[in-house]
Amino acid sequence: MPTDPLLQPYQLRHLTLRNRLMTTAHEPAYAEDGMPKARYRAYHVERAKAGIALTMTAGSATVSRDSPPAFNNILLYKDEVVRWMRELADACHEHGAAVMIQITHLGRRTRWDRGFWLPVLSSSHRREAAHRAFPKRIEDWDIRRIIAEYGDAAERVRAAGLDGLELEAYGHLMDQFWSPLTNDLDGPYGGPLENRLRFTFDVLTEIRKRVGPELIVGIRYTADELLARGLSPEDGLEISRRLKASGMVDFLNVIRGHIDTDAGLTDVIPIQGMPSAPHLDFAGEIRARIGLPTFHAARIQDVATARHAIAAGKLDMVGMTRAHMADPHIVRKIREGREADIRPCVGANYCLDRIYQGGSAYCIHNAATGRELFMPHEIVPAAVRRTFVIVGAGPAGLEAARVAAERGHAVVVLEAASEPGGQVRLAARSRRRSEMNGIIEWRMAQCVARGVRFRFDVWAEADDVIAEGPDVVVVATGGLPHVELLDSGNELLVSSWDIISGSVAPRPDVLLFDDAGDHAGLQAAEVIAAAGSRVEIMTPDRCFAPEVMGMNLVPYMRALQKLDVTFTVTFRLEAVSSDAGRLLAVVGSDYGGVRKERRVDQVVVNHGTVPNEELYWALKPLSSNLGEVDYDRLVADLPQTSGSNPEGGFQLFRVGDAVSSRNVHAAIYDALRLVKDL
Ligand SMILES: Cc1cc2nc3c(=O)[nH]c(=O)nc-3n(C[C@H](O)[C@H](O)[C@H](O)COP(=O)(O)O)c2cc1C
Ligand code: SF4
Repeated sequence: MPTDPLLQPYQLRHLTLRNRLMTTAHEPAYAEDGMPKARYRAYHVERAKAGIALTMTAGSATVSRDSPPAFNNILLYKDEVVRWMRELADACHEHGAAVMIQITHLGRRTRWDRGFWLPVLSSSHRREAAHRAFPKRIEDWDIRRIIAEYGDAAERVRAAGLDGLELEAYGHLMDQFWSPLTNDLDGPYGGPLENRLRFTFDVLTEIRKRVGPELIVGIRYTADELLARGLSPEDGLEISRRLKASGMVDFLNVIRGHIDTDAGLTDVIPIQGMPSAPHLDFAGEIRARIGLPTFHAARIQDVATARHAIAAGKLDMVGMTRAHMADPHIVRKIREGREADIRPCVGANYCLDRIYQGGSAYCIHNAATGRELFMPHEIVPAAVRRTFVIVGAGPAGLEAARVAAERGHAVVVLEAASEPGGQVRLAARSRRRSEMNGIIEWRMAQCVARGVRFRFDVWAEADDVIAEGPDVVVVATGGLPHVELLDSGNELLVSSWDIISGSVAPRPDVLLFDDAGDHAGLQAAEVIAAAGSRVEIMTPDRCFAPEVMGMNLVPYMRALQKLDVTFTVTFRLEAVSSDAGRLLAVVGSDYGGVRKERRVDQVVVNHGTVPNEELYWALKPLSSNLGEVDYDRLVADLPQTSGSNPEGGFQLFRVGDAVSSRNVHAAIYDALRLVKDL
């Protein structure tokens, strides 16, 4: 029997969970036609194989047609789902993991203009800011129908052979009934707490009637909305007591907070720079007071905190959900005594922010997550050892070096700066984003352990590269700030990087023109405003910082609004000139017919990067493939062939921003998918 508290089995009624680690419900938006098909299955199986005890599949699998998917959720109201869920459950069971599913009616937390275009509904007309719908107030026949639909869904779950299900009651219909803020019904389902809980107990009664006592049924619920006039911690305790007293609930999965706004959601699911495990003690308190099996997840991103949660008796099962997106093999690495090898979740929240923008979940620095069908989490050694020269030690270069080293190649990395990291180091200069360094540090440690040779402070010319005798050269030299964007006055501009790096000091009155819309613009604005200057952020887009996305925007807004930063959308900076010691900025609009002048002390621009590509062009004629990437082979996961120039001495590729201005995930994916087959 292992002594690690995290590796102790846990008995949940008749179900033995093999250890204390679970992934809580999270909809990665991998469903196809609303069904968890091969991609979805492969994602969960990867974690099951590596030893996770319990995977709570889906996230908000929807029980009704008038709960249309908010982010490509599983459609549990269709019978067809049984077949797909059965395949997923069987595959995970084969590897010893228990499988449950979170089921829900989203209530007002979705939109009416998708699916069947049915009106969304709730226990009041009150609008949810995040999804923008004004709901219909629920009627008696809706309630009867939805209770029956929960029952139908539970039957499908049982028919698919899952171990259990979890009701979602934070921000969705169930707790919209609970909260005085979102329930203004009269009669049996409105008014006192007992009435507001009636829908939940009706649903539980229906589920138990349909599936009996065998299927494990839990509830993930907010036990404190952290909102004035919302559900208080005392209400939460009372609800917990009643759930236990009903005898129909096997576990509690505790949430603290509300998710009807981006800011509320971010406090429930904190991101980088926010405190770790902020609600763990609260969940522990519920466990102590109620005595039902208690699960919880909220930024418990490292094994030590997870271990503490179990050892201190705060939880029975600990959720490490995003941590498993960053590294699905956590349990195996704990078992093998290799905790230091766990790829850290750096809290970048690229995964979650993407699903709210209609994409599927990808981890910022694990490009295999969500691509399990064709991208490996474990690199297969190459048949022949070759020499790789990688130029640039940013995220793309380091990923290329890591993967090449895992393939068993001899690898040397040349880097112009005195330390690794490239743009990630720049991002991490903001204290709130310092965890981004984990992307670099983890790769450096993996590379060093595999004998990668690093040469810093080397501005590599073609001769330096050739002197290393490469078989393969990967140019990962990144980009430089792009400031050539105006009709006139480009020489007067300062880049966002100049400000973030501290190489240029902010002046008192600053216009920041941001049409890249990524972190660098807002980071620069924060540096400028924190120095006491006045900042106006201007963008030609309809909204500012679209690449930063919803939850990542929250900490910025909390900082920038306090510092009185102003935001101007739909205007474009056109020209800048000197004007009696100040600058005159000419501003137009893509909509036409507008010309304004602004006098400021400094104009900062955030306009992406231009590739730092001289070395690539110098090496290109000397290479065997003339730099060409065979896209047919790349997307078919086949190795690149030598190419069309037999005289060339090496294969040449470039990755990341050395090709074009993109983001960290794109840079890492470029490198992984290329080098894994070389
Ligand atoms: C991509 C993604 C989708 C999520 N969707 C859901 C969901 O549908 N239902 C839910 O209860 N929680 C959802 N969550 C929240 C997670 O279950 C978990 O509470 C959260 O990620 C905090 O835990 P962590 O810090 O271990 O990641 C989602 C999280 C992610 C990353
Ligand atoms: S994107 Fe960021 S928060 Fe999400 S799993 Fe990856 S490292 Fe963690």
